[in-house]
Amino acid sequence: MTPDSLDGNAYPVAGAILPGPLLAIESSCDETACAILAPDGRVLAERLVSQEAHAAFGGVVPEIAARAHLALLPDLAGKTLESSGLARGDLAAVAASTGPGLIGGLIVGASFGKGLAIALGKPFIAVNHIEAHALSARLPGVSDGQIGFPFLLLLVSGGHCQCLAVEGVGRYRRLGGTIDDAAGEAFDKVAKMLGLGWPGGPALERLAREGDPAAFALPRPLKGRAGCDFSFSGLKTAIARQLEPFGSAALPRQVAADLAASFQQAVADVIEDRVTHALAMMERPTALVAAGGVAANTVLRERLTALAAAHGLPFVAPPLRLCTDNAVMVGWAALEICREAARLGLPVPDDRAMRPRPRWPLGEMAERFAVG
Ligand code: KG4
Ligand code: ZN
Repeated sequence: MTPDSLDGNAYPVAGAILPGPLLAIESSCDETACAILAPDGRVLAERLVSQEAHAAFGGVVPEIAARAHLALLPDLAGKTLESSGLARGDLAAVAASTGPGLIGGLIVGASFGKGLAIALGKPFIAVNHIEAHALSARLPGVSDGQIGFPFLLLLVSGGHCQCLAVEGVGRYRRLGGTIDDAAGEAFDKVAKMLGLGWPGGPALERLAREGDPAAFALPRPLKGRAGCDFSFSGLKTAIARQLEPFGSAALPRQVAADLAASFQQAVADVIEDRVTHALAMMERPTALVAAGGVAANTVLRERLTALAAAHGLPFVAPPLRLCTDNAVMVGWAALEICREAARLGLPVPDDRAMRPRPRWPLGEMAERFAVG
């Protein structure tokens, strides 16, 4: 739909960026979140609910997530607007994660966003959730001075594990990714085997502090292999094998701590190796960026900081609340998209005709900037 077809409500035409703040929505997994950003990226208000109903199931249950998003979102959006001190009519656009992710949640967030945009006569900007993670490192204040393109993004969360060359807004090259579990998924599964709660990553990291990382000889899947794909399922199996002698008996705490430390060490070794390969696959990267919940891991952060320094690069990891799923990154990505469109002399995009997509390859993101 072109801007002209929006019943008389003016919003920026070709070459203009947003004239006012935007509301951003995130609902692709188990976080329901809203944020309001000024056109320059300042966060005017932010609200986030991490759905707790999944803990009892040891993982995100898509149907429960979708229903929770539906129950939470309208009120959350209203409260976010209220705390920004703005009225609905002040919004210049609405943005939402429209894929990839769990389809039920995406439908809730994107439909709500589109409905609001239509009611206000303002554009709806469909944001790719991975693109939002990728660009979050450029949010004002995340590093000293905004990092430039290209940079290497390591995205490691419960649902994603990949290395991306971020070459510009809309220009992403997937260098490699997991061929089985995501890194966070591996942390969660191993934590469960060790009798820890969910999500397991933080609990496993805490337990690992009491353990010896050299206590168990675990495999380093794909280490040294060409490219930068990841694999974690073999590590999980190796842990299961170490647990076999204990049967159903309670695991001695020191054994659990040693296993946790050895597992964490193996994951850090593998990620360090894969990221080294990814850096070699890029020409003159400006920074190494890590995002996703696993980027909170201290051992991993130390490794990546040292690795980046060895390559003469800064290591940038957004603060944890921006590393994990949130709506600020969705709003920021929408602003970056608007700015890039303006740079190219294109109008503010309006994606209200776009359907939510459980899969939405990043390679398709350049299409919105294709001229002619
Ligand atoms: O980005 P995120 O909040 O949600 C998505 O998966 O999109 O990431 C959550 C994942 C979980 O698997 C959790 O166990 C892991 O990140 N995680 C960690 C740590 N904190 C969170 N893994 C290792 N060490 C941590 N400190
Ligand atoms: Zn995510």
